[in-house]
Amino acid sequence: MRAVVIEKPGTINTTTVEDPAPGPRDVVLEVSGVGICGTDLHVLDGDLEGSEYPIIPGHEFAGTVVAAGSAVEKLAVGDRVAVDPNLFCGECHYCRIGRGNLCERYNAMGVIRTPGATAEYCAVPEGNCYPIPEGVELEHAPLIEPLSCAVHGFDLLPGRVGEHYLVYGAGTMGLMMAQLARFAGAASVEVVDINADRLGVAERLAADRTATSADDLDRPEGWEVVVDCTGAVPAIEDGLTRVRKGGTFQVFGVAPEQATASFSPFRVYKDEITIVGSMAVLHSFGRAVELLARKVIDPEVMISHSFGLDGYADAVDRFRRGAGRKLQIRPGA
Ligand SMILES: NC(=O)c1ccc[n+]([C@@H]2O[C@H](COP(=O)([O-])OP(=O)(O)OC[C@H]3O[C@@H](n4cnc5c(N)ncnc54)[C@H](O)[C@@H]3O)[C@@H](O)[C@H]2O)c1
Ligand SMILES: [Zn+2]
Ligand SMILES: [Zn+2]
Repeated sequence: MRAVVIEKPGTINTTTVEDPAPGPRDVVLEVSGVGICGTDLHVLDGDLEGSEYPIIPGHEFAGTVVAAGSAVEKLAVGDRVAVDPNLFCGECHYCRIGRGNLCERYNAMGVIRTPGATAEYCAVPEGNCYPIPEGVELEHAPLIEPLSCAVHGFDLLPGRVGEHYLVYGAGTMGLMMAQLARFAGAASVEVVDINADRLGVAERLAADRTATSADDLDRPEGWEVVVDCTGAVPAIEDGLTRVRKGGTFQVFGVAPEQATASFSPFRVYKDEITIVGSMAVLHSFGRAVELLARKVIDPEVMISHSFGLDGYADAVDRFRRGAGRKLQIRPGA
């Protein structure tokens, strides 16, 4: 089959590799689409702890079952599925306490050790597959994985209705978070991005107001919930000062591993600020399937461009420039 292979950090090769064969409890998918996100850049740049090379990238994907292993029970050839790419060991301390996303042997398809989906075909465990409901287009289903990250992030917020939300970053993740906040009963949703070109879409999808600086939003008392979806230290430092007394700040964006940020511990103590992280997917994939089917996010707007396998390097360049929103590779195109 044709596949994109990251041979080593910095080297992308679109080439022919052996077709995947399903293990007894695996299915093979014909990949319909695979989204590109910041994690793929980390795999490509070699700055993610634990990634092994060569690797086929791609962890946000969906497809149609074309072969099933001998012990597959629920899926059959022709089924359309989205795939949770996270692979937890099930045995370590964190898996045993129900926090598999913190697994000591954390693995994810296309990210750490197991081949991903930027290829014509991909073998996946049946247990990681979620049938795509009728009415959801196959080409929209790769949005389920990033949405399931946003749903997990939301699980770690207080989730009270009638509160004010401020989201930093109007990329795919910030837009998803803003749409979830609106759906979950926020009193208001506001979005800050230093890239003014991205603000119009945020307003179209979910935001009451947007700005390139939170100063322009004029809420001196602050926001009950502030979510960083940039991973940028200046945004994180600014965002922490915007949290209302008793409020919550979420570090959802992925900052560089060595980065540090400053905040006032006195203020965190005195105003009882909660600071909470959020890492990937935990018990949230199935809900993301339903939320997409319920049209809580607008897939037509969220996916801005698609490319064939040969367009992978172009897609990565475009993503680095912040041009468009979710970029998709469609291996069959
Ligand atoms: N926690 C998780 O499970 C999880 C899952 C997926 C992605 N992420 C992370 O979420 C972040 C967002 O992902 P994305 O795909 O939307 O990325 P993106 O690059 O498309 O969007 C980030 C946005 O942040 C804006 N930005 C940068 N610095 C800023 C600043 N100082 N103030 C305001 N805005 C600023 C950029 O202009 C850009 O529009 C990334 O760090 C990504 O790695 C986390
Ligand atoms: Zn991703
Ligand atoms: Zn584990």
